[in-house]
Amino acid sequence: MVIRIAAVGDVHLDEDVVGRFRPALEELPECADVLLLAGDLTRHGTEAEARCVAEEFGGLAVPVVTVLGNHDHQCDQVPQVVKVLEEAGITVLEGNGVVLDCAGGRLGIAGVKGFGGGFAGRCASDFGEPEMKAFVRTTTDSADRLGAALRSLDCDMLVALTHYAPVPDTLAGEPLEIYPFLGSYQLGQAIDSAPTALALHGHAHAGTERGTTPGGVRVRNVAHPVIKQAYSVFHVGDQLDTDQVSPLGQSGIQRSWS
Ligand SMILES: [Fe+2]
Ligand SMILES: [Fe+2]
Repeated sequence: MVIRIAAVGDVHLDEDVVGRFRPALEELPECADVLLLAGDLTRHGTEAEARCVAEEFGGLAVPVVTVLGNHDHQCDQVPQVVKVLEEAGITVLEGNGVVLDCAGGRLGIAGVKGFGGGFAGRCASDFGEPEMKAFVRTTTDSADRLGAALRSLDCDMLVALTHYAPVPDTLAGEPLEIYPFLGSYQLGQAIDSAPTALALHGHAHAGTERGTTPGGVRVRNVAHPVIKQAYSVFHVGDQLDTDQVSPLGQSGIQRSWS
């Protein structure tokens, strides 16, 4: 029993990119049961950019599930962005989950944008000024909601979808000084609180692809500048957890945005 998961993050769409992912996306049913988007769908989170996302990722032959990223919040138009995406049939998760019936079983996906804070021994703490407490509590709240969503899903296979990173492994290549703004160990703890098979994130454009939570869950940074293809495909199943290099994905595009 295998479920095939295609994923990409940080596509940062605007009008100039529309159409460039679509040829590879049209081939998705041949290699994947679902497409997961790991946030930063847009550059500045405008409703107009969201329409570009809807045009590029809407109406596909497989279900599309996403979380938003920090860029999708930039213009304070989140409700409008979510509305446009959902009208295009894209499921937007934020502290909740969805279960999809796939040929290989019931796939549970729990998603949250997440936030920063840093990692063991090098993290912000809930102490001192109200601003620092608010920063850390934003992460704690986000991680708590991810954990609760993961543990609530009745499914055969469980996947965690975030924008911010749950482990430092997949940040390798980024400056150490900005790790606290790229993710939080609390997201990793949430992922380890459930029988998660795979954790996908984006945000770290200069990071690396592979990592593992302290509990042993496979973590993959699917930011487009990292995977350098339209999407990567991962298999999860009873006996098989593998990363598939999709020949179709190789037709994807390469770009480098910060
Ligand atoms: Fe990004
Ligand atoms: Fe980001």
